[in-house]
Amino acid sequence: MHVGIIMDGNGRWATQRGLTRAQGHRRGAQAVRDVVRAATREAVDILTLYAFSSDNWSRPADEVRHLMRLLKRHLISETAECADNGVQVSVIGRRDRLDRGLLQTIANTEAATERGSSLQLRLAIDYSGREAIERAASIHAAHPDKAFSSCLAEAIHSPGEITPVDLLIRTGGERRLSDFLLWESAYAELLFTDTYWPDFDEPALLAALAEFQRRERRFGGVPGLTLPEAGTG
Ligand code: IPE
Ligand code: IPE
Ligand code: MG
Repeated sequence: MHVGIIMDGNGRWATQRGLTRAQGHRRGAQAVRDVVRAATREAVDILTLYAFSSDNWSRPADEVRHLMRLLKRHLISETAECADNGVQVSVIGRRDRLDRGLLQTIANTEAATERGSSLQLRLAIDYSGREAIERAASIHAAHPDKAFSSCLAEAIHSPGEITPVDLLIRTGGERRLSDFLLWESAYAELLFTDTYWPDFDEPALLAALAEFQRRERRFGGVPGLTLPEAGTG
């Protein structure tokens, strides 16, 4: 299954404790490590984490710099363990506004983990769902024979095929998508929790997966029946 997470609430977590927002982001990075480890043990095939939205460039320059440094350090420190545990790491989003050091780190991490087959971890950095669809549309206009989902994968540098999101989690109490995986989440089950991201841990992930199991997905069909087969009936 494909789980997407909007990791929100680092700033408020820190403010509540009299800490700086930067400290909140550092704790958020630790939560990423724990949740990725937990996901490898669960029935999660793809985990897409929203780490930095295209609109997050509008934050104060200091915070943006800190987040970019943190992303780079996190990728460097986690690469070996991801490779050992069969976690294939990739970064989705735009590449043209990231600095060269981060781009090099992304390339190294993607190369070192490309054979991973237990979990596909996609970090969304400089990602905008709307912009991804716009780019995919222009790729599709130039190559009409190509499936739209392949165009979308190309637009965001996602390895393999685009897969629908099954469960979309947002921490931090807000109930909005903030431009995350708009196309992929057409039939995603939405789960909003007030827990701030640095406090989201393995039990929280397990609770979210259990809640997902209790949902009845219908995909426009009739309750209790399995997925309709296209063209029959
Ligand atoms: C999420 O936490 C991390 C990023 C958006 C990069 P926030 O920084 O948005 O935390 P809040 O929402 O201000 O608490
Ligand atoms: C969404 O959180 C982006 C990430 C978690 C990376 P934001 O904090 O940027 O979203 P808004 O501004 O509350 O919608
Ligand atoms: Mg926020």
